[in-house]
Amino acid sequence: MAIKTIIEPFRIKAVEPIRMTTPAERQAKIREAFYNVFLLHADDVLIDLLTDSGTGAMSSEQWAAVMRGDESYAGSRSYYRFEQSVKRLFPFKHIIPTHQGRAAERILFSVMCRPGHIVPNNAHFDTTRANIEYRGARAVDLPCRESHETGAPHPFKGNMDLEALERLLAAEGRAAVPLVLLTITNNSGGGQPVAMANVRQVSEICHRYGVPLYIDACRFAENAYFIKQREPGYENRSVAEIAQEFLSYADGCTMSAKKDGLANIGGFLATNDEDLSRQEKDLLILTEGYPTYGGLAGRDLEAIATGLEEVVHEDYLQYRIVSTEYLGRHISGEGVPIVQPPGGHAIYIDAAAFLPHVEPLRYPGIALAVEFYLEAGIRAVEIGSVMFGQHDRESGEETPAEHELLRLAIPRRVYTQSHIDYVVEAILEVWKRRERIGGYRITYQAPFLRHFTARFEPLGS
Ligand SMILES: Cc1ncc(COP(=O)(O)O)c(C=O)c1O
Repeated sequence: MAIKTIIEPFRIKAVEPIRMTTPAERQAKIREAFYNVFLLHADDVLIDLLTDSGTGAMSSEQWAAVMRGDESYAGSRSYYRFEQSVKRLFPFKHIIPTHQGRAAERILFSVMCRPGHIVPNNAHFDTTRANIEYRGARAVDLPCRESHETGAPHPFKGNMDLEALERLLAAEGRAAVPLVLLTITNNSGGGQPVAMANVRQVSEICHRYGVPLYIDACRFAENAYFIKQREPGYENRSVAEIAQEFLSYADGCTMSAKKDGLANIGGFLATNDEDLSRQEKDLLILTEGYPTYGGLAGRDLEAIATGLEEVVHEDYLQYRIVSTEYLGRHISGEGVPIVQPPGGHAIYIDAAAFLPHVEPLRYPGIALAVEFYLEAGIRAVEIGSVMFGQHDRESGEETPAEHELLRLAIPRRVYTQSHIDYVVEAILEVWKRRERIGGYRITYQAPFLRHFTARFEPLGS
């Protein structure tokens, strides 16, 4: 009989202690952090599920590659190894390294967007939206209909709404839409995958209107694995082949190597357009660095080159997807409302359904983030009205986001199953006392990306 238990497909070679705190200490720490978990010291967090970005553990092969890093300013051997590793999966002509994903976004939108432009996406993530808006352009989300209902399972809830894209392009035309983006997997909408058929159709529509398609490829390997599991016709294709196919429908991509690059820093911008690549490299030199390092050390380029080889291993991806699902299944089985089905890199709790008595503009996602920290030292992030609500600075008027979510993002190769069992137990304790949890008000906010630095106060205090 085959063994059914899916294990972490690695042994642990180096360990990093985590510090236990008492409930009284956590009360003091969260108050000092103005109830914003971004403002906590990481040493005061026990299980850090704030993000899966740059928080993964590197392999022994990656650490060995770090030692081989060539720190030459121009023409570094590590750049050529990085470029070769990227091109094995990403079939684009020009590969431009950047220090992380948002630097690739800033360069791309600086070159392609003007005030008044519109950039559609299945769902923009925070930095993508902010970089587009910073250029004076408008970021428009076109998620598929199935994504609106958080609790309803659908295999490809990350898909773009094809009819809405067609309508937008027919109404606005090539002159107003410099590019279309597709975020794979869809981070703001639940870590949900995009189907191969959807990428193909989005590409066909874009090209019919003469508009280039770019993929935000942060979690390309997780997306490819979901296609292999869920889309008929792909069960016998390798994850690498699947990724190559969906990337081949695009004209370029942005990538944060802090996710499926399995690295702690880095990213890149890729394009097939020679003229654009020249303009992008000129900007890169101005703010990031020479095009053979782009703001990274040679050793970082080596870590990414090796990470991209490891991330498409199917043992790794099976463990990755199954362990995220394990958390989702164990809390939803006890009634905790989550975005269904579980995402690839994170579980998204529906905070509005968890705390129905806390109105959206009393920030139920923030309230839950505070409670998980107080209960057990767990850090998670609100993806709701603080991150994505509209707020008019002049009038103070606020419009809530479509969903109030709390994301528990799982760092890659970092936590074991017993860490996750601890998280499950803590969440269920908070679930039991949910009726006694109240909302928050904002006492300070920055003009954009306010969630990173906002300060809060519990209502009634
Ligand atoms: C979908 C998506 N796009 C872009 C980014 C930005 O990448 P970085 O944090 O490397 O700047 C992120 C980061 O979380 C992301 O999830």
